Amino acid sequence: MRNLNTLLIGSMLAGFLAASAPAYADDERATQPVKVKTESRKKKPVVVTAPSVTPVPVTTATLSAAGEGRRLYLKLNCYGCHGDRGAGGMGPKVAHAEYGDVSEKVLQGAGEGMISYRAYVNTQDVKNIAAYLASIGKPEEPRFKDWWVAIPPK
Ligand code: HEC
Repeated sequence: MRNLNTLLIGSMLAGFLAASAPAYADDERATQPVKVKTESRKKKPVVVTAPSVTPVPVTTATLSAAGEGRRLYLKLNCYGCHGDRGAGGMGPKVAHAEYGDVSEKVLQGAGEGMISYRAYVNTQDVKNIAAYLASIGKPEEPRFKDWWVAIPPK
């Protein structure tokens, strides 16, 4: 009886070891180095190109001096204090202001309420702003709202 038990346990153990041992243990393949394919790593890099964007030419040449002035009046936020058409608001009325006045106030600032725009404008800009202010209320007055539009509608 004891011998039978030993035999049983022995054969079970042997069966277990046989089952857990890798099937290819004495196979030749197991001792050969694993070949790593390197070709796949030489794939060409994917080149991502940005969608082509055609630059929009800024053709401001077609705008009148008043149009350019209107553009600056909006861009520099003059309208925020002097009203959309210079009629006044927080700041005084500037429609039809004299060129000398416009130049002085824009370049030097006016009192406590208005900063100097010297760093943001040149002489031509000041002339254009004055031309715009002079055109207000006349048929040629430019009235567009978006200064960044290359050729705004009148
Ligand atoms: C933050 C508000 C503000 C902004 C922005 C502003 N101004 Fe003024 N501006 C004033 C005030 C306030 C005065 C009056 C100051 C004073 O006389 O003490 C004034 C005065 C003037 C005057 C003189 C008007 C007069 O009859 O005395 C002119 C011209 C003028 N501004 C043009 C402009 C232009 C052009 C711009 C844009 C480049 C501009 N301002 C931007 C507030 C502003």
